[in-house]
Amino acid sequence: MTSVSGVGYSRSLFPALSTKPSRSPSRRVASVIRNAVSVEKKSFTLDKSEEIFNAAKELMPGGVNSPVRAFKSVGGQPIVFDSVKGSRMWDVDGNEYIDYVGSWGPAIIGHADDKVNAALIETLKKGTSFGAPCVLENVLAEMVISAVPSVEMVRFVNSGTEACMGALRLARAFTGRQKVIKFEGCYHGHADSFLVKAGSGVATLGLPDSPGVPKGATSDTLTSPYNDLETIKNLFNTHKGDIAAVILEPVVGNAGFITPKPEFLNSLRKITKENGALLIFDEVMTGFRLAYGGAQEYFGIIPDLTTMGKIIGGGLPVGAYGGRRDIMEKVAPAGPMYQAGTLSGNPLAMTAGIHTLKRLMEPGCYDYLDNITGDLVNGILDAGKRGGHEMCGGHIRGMFGFFFTGGPVHNFADAKKSDTSKFARFHRGMLEEGVYLAPSQFEAGFTSLAHSSKDIEQTVEAAERVLQRI
Ligand SMILES: Cc1ncc(COP(=O)(O)O)c(C=O)c1O
Repeated sequence: MTSVSGVGYSRSLFPALSTKPSRSPSRRVASVIRNAVSVEKKSFTLDKSEEIFNAAKELMPGGVNSPVRAFKSVGGQPIVFDSVKGSRMWDVDGNEYIDYVGSWGPAIIGHADDKVNAALIETLKKGTSFGAPCVLENVLAEMVISAVPSVEMVRFVNSGTEACMGALRLARAFTGRQKVIKFEGCYHGHADSFLVKAGSGVATLGLPDSPGVPKGATSDTLTSPYNDLETIKNLFNTHKGDIAAVILEPVVGNAGFITPKPEFLNSLRKITKENGALLIFDEVMTGFRLAYGGAQEYFGIIPDLTTMGKIIGGGLPVGAYGGRRDIMEKVAPAGPMYQAGTLSGNPLAMTAGIHTLKRLMEPGCYDYLDNITGDLVNGILDAGKRGGHEMCGGHIRGMFGFFFTGGPVHNFADAKKSDTSKFARFHRGMLEEGVYLAPSQFEAGFTSLAHSSKDIEQTVEAAERVLQRI
């Protein structure tokens, strides 16, 4: 029996591994897993990653379970990881990286936090899923309600996609209207109605709106450039009385890092109220990241509904939507709007969320994130200037981004002016220097409480070297 990160893989546990014919990809994967153990780091090679990923491509579409992971826009093959801790990740070839992806956001207190892990082990002893009420749901619900200004009641689900799907259905049920406005480059998960001019993987892969989405599902989805109030006003005039909701990322992370112009969020709040539409903040990314109460606390704007995910699950699969009590009481079984989930509110996921939020309640967390992230972004932008590159970027607390264009970047069209091949070279160079960045120009980056000033210094020094040579 061999082990990867202390997990035993044996033929008796996985009999299929020994019964499949020898050409079976599963068998090859098993052999690669065996070989991937306890590697001493020598130089930057990715042989084992490549071997495992080549096998994965025969097993899963594109070799991954979520498209952006596939490195399509930066070239090369994705890296296969073995373990994570704090600010660091280790791949199967033994390379160590300072991580700025943070599992795409959840890892705000650092990977595999000791207290979260210890709490998970205690919960695990009582079972992994009840499919029935448990007190841990109350605990996390109370924490979310007392943290997030707009949330008076909450429903837990299993992903950000589910949270946004639920919130949209609820907005339609509450208002009795069909149409929704979303912004170009914003990503609200992969539900049919939102796959229109979407950000994240859709933007990274340059995909047109996805095949398989019925026309009917998107015919009520209206779009506007981000930060463009004139278009919003025109849409409300053209579709008077038909718009159920405006949904947006209050700070965009899925078209790269884009901040709202002063007055943008405030005006959206005013326009939606005047027109009887709901304002939905998709805080799957910004929730508990920009402030303990999310972007709505940071900017002082209270939406009607809020969607959450990532951090509230502390690395386990959790999403949530919540908002005003009169709206939330329309959700079944309190009300008629149906939405359900076999594993929703499961005790492990609730535990990871509770202990992650507990850590974030400690004083000074968000100032710390703001300081180190500011040093990181300013360091990279200064290094860019010295290297003769046109760049712009910014950060709020533990969320950041930079573009290879002079900017300013106020919307997705501006973001697309970036030199994406230069980003690809930068990304590759940083990997070789031991820094793991999101493999797309159109994704935000994340720091964590586990990132030290030394980590930031090392990253900026690495960026300096790479930006001099690309
Ligand atoms: C703002 C936002 N909304 C929704 C989602 C979808 O969440 P999930 O990937 O958990 O389904 C994401 C994912 O990155 C996101 O960033």
